[in-house]
Amino acid sequence: MRNHSIRIAVVGVGNCSSALIQGIGFYRNRYQSDAKLQAQGLMHLDLDGYKPWDIEVVAAFDIDRRKVGKPLKEALFARPNCTQVIFPHLNDSAVRVSMGELLDGVSEHMKGYPEDRIFLPANEKPCNVEKVLRDSGAEILVNYLPVGSDRATQFYAESCLNTGMSFVNCMPSFVISDPEWAKKFETKGIPAVGDDIKSQMGATIVHRALVKLFEDRGVRLDRTYQLNTGGNTDFLNMLNRSRLKSKKISKTEAVQSQLDDPLEPENIHIGPSDYVPWQNDNKVCFIRMEGRGFGEVPLNLELRLSVEDSPNSAGMCIDAIRCCRIARDRGIAGPLLSISAYAMKHPLVQYPDHVARSMVEEFIAGKRER
Ligand SMILES: NC(=O)c1ccc[n+]([C@@H]2O[C@H](COP(=O)([O-])OP(=O)(O)OC[C@H]3O[C@@H](n4cnc5c(N)ncnc54)[C@H](O)[C@@H]3O)[C@@H](O)[C@H]2O)c1
Repeated sequence: MRNHSIRIAVVGVGNCSSALIQGIGFYRNRYQSDAKLQAQGLMHLDLDGYKPWDIEVVAAFDIDRRKVGKPLKEALFARPNCTQVIFPHLNDSAVRVSMGELLDGVSEHMKGYPEDRIFLPANEKPCNVEKVLRDSGAEILVNYLPVGSDRATQFYAESCLNTGMSFVNCMPSFVISDPEWAKKFETKGIPAVGDDIKSQMGATIVHRALVKLFEDRGVRLDRTYQLNTGGNTDFLNMLNRSRLKSKKISKTEAVQSQLDDPLEPENIHIGPSDYVPWQNDNKVCFIRMEGRGFGEVPLNLELRLSVEDSPNSAGMCIDAIRCCRIARDRGIAGPLLSISAYAMKHPLVQYPDHVARSMVEEFIAGKRER
């Protein structure tokens, strides 16, 4: 009989961690109070025997003085976190947030904004991350560091390699999609998922679906943009354009990969566009697509999508974690191609989403290795 608890650690106790961990409590509570209630908002209630509430957070790392040293259930609601509260009464747990390595986690430009909107690094010595990971018994580390934290991400990926832990990389520093890093995980016998989570019903999946629709219906796409605004720290951080390179690559390639004949760079513009504080964790995306149909007659499409950013990413992460665990149960190593293609914007190999979805179902059913 296998152990049903999936022990995870999180790095970055920001909005995405908060939404994921609240969501675990939310679904546990739902099903305890009425087991017959249909799952709302999940792709899989049961994923090869694992339920969302089988995920247990056993370690957490951050650098913010309002979070470090605090019980995790308090830190998840501390400023500057601002995501919608979906489950305020989290179970008691002994987990306190450990001081991580700061490295390139925090952008200097944040200093110009109010304290309750920015990261405030604690004046503490970093913990021994590998020791904390080992002592906690965690088996999967979920990376929610800010965009541009390339060195910090590599530090945590290296810690996974040294401790035998899996890495689920939800942000756009390329590790699991980088062939050299991918090889390291494979050689060490560790399964991993990455990079940069593709939200459940976010700008990327909608834009990809529309681009594919144009292509399938023979409509030539001439040019497109995707502009995004939001008011959380993720958007504030991304005002520093020097941190944005990999995010733009990740978001742009996610759309370009759906076209047989990719657009010239000047005809595609995709990216975080502005920070609007009062939006908090609400993200608004504007998509415009211009193309030509039968007889080369022009057409265009405009779309506005409004979502709560962080639960939207948690809806995918909850499956990425469980897929990672079943890979560990089955002794599979290296990047998990199916769930990475379905749940991440920048996987090692891109597939159209309907293909990736079938691959994930085959993987869960044990009919596909990775
Ligand atoms: N829908 C989504 O929300 C979505 C989708 C795709 C990717 N992502 C990515 O996921 C990541 C997390 O997003 P978020 O909204 O939770 O961000 P956030 O800004 O709310 O949280 C980041 C957290 O990291 C902490 N941090 C900063 N430097 C650190 C360090 N060196 N070590 C440990 N902790 C550190 C901050 O204090 C903060 O608590 C971002 O890179 C984001 O781009 C989010």
